[in-house]
Amino acid sequence: MSIIDSTINKTLRLNDMNGSGTTGKYSRGIVTIHWMSAFLIFILFPLGKYMSGLDPIEKLGLIKFHGILGLIIFLLTIARSVLFFTTKRPEKLNTGSWFNDLIAMVIHRAFYILLLLIGVSGIVTLVLGGYLDAISIESTNLILPRDEISPLLIHNMLAVLLIALLAVHVAGVIRFNIKHKTNAIKRMT
Ligand code: HEM
Repeated sequence: MSIIDSTINKTLRLNDMNGSGTTGKYSRGIVTIHWMSAFLIFILFPLGKYMSGLDPIEKLGLIKFHGILGLIIFLLTIARSVLFFTTKRPEKLNTGSWFNDLIAMVIHRAFYILLLLIGVSGIVTLVLGGYLDAISIESTNLILPRDEISPLLIHNMLAVLLIALLAVHVAGVIRFNIKHKTNAIKRMT
């Protein structure tokens, strides 16, 4: 193990000994929102894809459910963005490679932006696609054909990008744990 690796591991182990709210871990609020968001994305993405194959008449109830969960994750992301700037954060995770550090930082920031944009595009889809009117008067005739709802196209592209980044994020955390023999997840628990 190189001197750099051993210094990184020592720093992380010292950080691990600190309690929540110190430089060892993210704040309780950020940690809670992080895992709630992961859970909600796990439901929202497959549900969205499942709904896209159904007739409007079959999916109205599911759209309500998807919209409510989507709004919850949107509001949680706004709260998380505020907490990010107002609570203490752990030391930057030093992977030993400036390129990997940069990728990790870009992906972390991208999650916030993507989740906010997915929320906005979902709300716009709900309104412009006729879903909201359809829900309020219980008539699916008001829902436009999917290919005429351009915000839905954007919503879908952003959601797919989110899942792709999520895969890179999880792979990065696993790789870091193996390479540095340190449980980086502790920072987020
Ligand atoms: C992280 C949050 C969200 C994720 C991952 C997500 C994911 C998806 C996906 C994958 C689709 C299918 C797109 C397609 O195949 O064309 C979809 C559809 C949709 N989403 Fe979301 N969504 C989220 C949040 C929201 C929010 C906040 C709203 C509105 C309040 C919303 C409203 C809708 C609507 C109305 C549809 C169209 C359903 C259909 O006609 O089949 N979504 N979503």
